Amino acid sequence: MKKLRKAVFPVAGLGTRFLPATKAVPKEMLTVVDRPVIQYVVDEAREAGIEHFIFVTGRNKAVIEDHFDLQFELYDTLEQRGKNEVLSRLKGMQPAPGQTSFTRQQEPLGLGHAVWCAREIVGDEPFALLLPDMIMQSEPGCLKQMVDLYEKTGNNIVAVEECDPLETHKYGIVVKGKDVHSGFELTGMVEKPKPEDAPTNLYINGRYILQPEIFSILENQERGAGNEIQLTDSMLRLLEKQPFYGYHFKGRTFDCGSPEGFVEANLAFALARPDMKKHVTDFMREIAAE
Ligand code: G1P
Repeated sequence: MKKLRKAVFPVAGLGTRFLPATKAVPKEMLTVVDRPVIQYVVDEAREAGIEHFIFVTGRNKAVIEDHFDLQFELYDTLEQRGKNEVLSRLKGMQPAPGQTSFTRQQEPLGLGHAVWCAREIVGDEPFALLLPDMIMQSEPGCLKQMVDLYEKTGNNIVAVEECDPLETHKYGIVVKGKDVHSGFELTGMVEKPKPEDAPTNLYINGRYILQPEIFSILENQERGAGNEIQLTDSMLRLLEKQPFYGYHFKGRTFDCGSPEGFVEANLAFALARPDMKKHVTDFMREIAAE
C-alpha cells in the first residue's frame, strides 16, 4: 500500500453565499477566531501526516499562496520586537520549502473538475481531498481518524455524518454495507438527491482518501447534478473497480460556506480556547438575557 503523502484543497469557489465579504477576499481566508479557514484544514492534513499540500485555486485567490509563503520582513520585525510566541506559532504553521503546489481551475465546472485539475501534481499515488468549506473540531482530526482506518483497509475512504433527512439535496449521500474495522463498506452513493429519493441520510462531509485511478474516470468530464462535473459520480464508477469504505466521523463539523455555520465555528473554536472561554461565555449569557 502506498503511503498517503499528498492532499488536495479545492479553493477556486466564488463564495457567493458570503457576499459582500468575499467580493475581494477569498472565502477560505475568512477568519475563525484568529486563523483563516484554510489554515484549519491544512493543519488537519499536516496532523494526519500529509507532506505535500496542493491547492486548486482560481482568479482572485493569490492571497492564499501569500498566506502559506514565508514572510521575511514580518518575521524579522517580530523577532526584533521580541514577539517570540507569535513568531514561533507562525513558523510552526509554515509549510517547508517545496511542500506546496498551486494550480488553477480555469472554469467553475464542478468539484470533479477541480480535483481533476490536480492530476499532474498528484501523479500515480493516493491522495487526501479536503473541502475547506467544512472545518472540524475533534481530537484527533477527521483526516487522522480516516488514516487510521486507511492503514488497515487501503483503497478509498470517504468520511460521513448524519444530516437532517430533509437536507439530502445539499450533499453527496452514501449507502452503508457491512462494518469493516472502524468503518464500513460503501455500497452506493448519489450526489444531492431529493429527500424522497435519498437512500439514507449519511452525507459525505468533505474529507476523502482516493486512489489515483479516479483521475482517468474524471477525464471523461461527464456532467451530473446541477450540470456540474461531480466527484461523487466518478467515485461511484470507481466503486465498481475498487473497494470503497465509509468512515463515520467522530466530532463536530461546521459548514463555513454558510454564514450560520461560520458563526457557530467562531463560537465553538473561541470556547475551546482556555484564554477566551470565560470571556465569551459571560458575554453570551449577557446578550442572551437582554
Ligand atoms: C460537495 C460534494 C458533496 C459533499 C459536500 C460536502 O458539494 O459534491 O458530495 O457532500 O461537498 O460539503 P458542494 O458543497 O460543493 O455543493
